[in-house]
Amino acid sequence: MDLKGRDFLTLKDFTPEEIIYMIDLAELLKKKKKNHEPVDVYRGYNAALIFEKTSTRTRCSFEVAANDLGMGVTYLDPTSSQIGKKESIADTARVLSSMFDGIEYRGYGQVIVEELAKYSKVPVWNGLTDEYHPTQMLADMLTIREHFGKLKGLKLVYMGDARFNMGNSLMIACAKLGLSFTACTTKEYFPNAELVKECEEYAKASGGSISLEEDVMKGTKDADIIYTDVWVSMGEPTEVWKERIDSLMPYQVNKKVMDNASEGAVFMHCLPAYHDLNTGVGREVFEKFGLKEIEVTNEVFESDKSIVFEEAENRMHTIKAVMAATLGENFL
Ligand code: CP
Ligand code: NVA
Repeated sequence: MDLKGRDFLTLKDFTPEEIIYMIDLAELLKKKKKNHEPVDVYRGYNAALIFEKTSTRTRCSFEVAANDLGMGVTYLDPTSSQIGKKESIADTARVLSSMFDGIEYRGYGQVIVEELAKYSKVPVWNGLTDEYHPTQMLADMLTIREHFGKLKGLKLVYMGDARFNMGNSLMIACAKLGLSFTACTTKEYFPNAELVKECEEYAKASGGSISLEEDVMKGTKDADIIYTDVWVSMGEPTEVWKERIDSLMPYQVNKKVMDNASEGAVFMHCLPAYHDLNTGVGREVFEKFGLKEIEVTNEVFESDKSIVFEEAENRMHTIKAVMAATLGENFL
């Protein structure tokens, strides 16, 4: 398998075999990390990390992964570079790719990361856009495979806003890898019809399936994985909180939902999550709407069924695999 020089913008661009290859590579790199085996084959390489939106997991994963691989990193935060304000994406790409060996980008429209990749001579890695979050997918699929020992045939149910990066990306990942994907939400929040059609084609080839379901009990029945994300994503105005709460409250992940899923079901969330009042946004929502927990109850989040922190750790191992593979090293 040779992914050298490839951009990593969305899983749509990768075959199931290529995706599994990156997950296998991440598993190997995780073992090496646990055994303290060095993998610093990229000494002298450098990566630029552009974050137009904030981050904890993705930034730390890129930085730690790069350091483990022997690479240096330069972090460009949402305010202190010229990008977009004084310099176009095309010009930025040509400048950065003359100095760095790879470029990570987190920001708004997918078109921006595509433009960056078009003008860059080095691999571009999507660290989240409004439409897709592909590095999160590799981590999620690795976590699911570690837990269940397989991917094919499992039922993943996504609850909440299924039209944004997480819903879209999970639908693509499941369709490519042969899982059954259900968006369980009110129909205004179903993923867009064109993407659903595309994913149905992937699912035909992989043995997976796609379904859209408004009824919570029907949608979550026999689920192996219940997945949710925040109801208001980065870059959206705070005014949308009211309509999201009004529409999505019936789709909160709570004990009733988990009890309706299969006996061995797990709870997943890309994080950060609003499950208590220990966040600024959580407290603001409480003051305005009286909710102590939002997309998931604290009971489920803290339960034995929750594998969210295993999932978060796997962000680092999978991002390391993406960097290593697209720079040309396969370790396998
Ligand atoms: N899941 C995720 O992307 O987290 P961060 O926003 O902290 O990077
Ligand atoms: N949908 C969320 C994902 C965060 C990892 C957001 O875009 O804010």
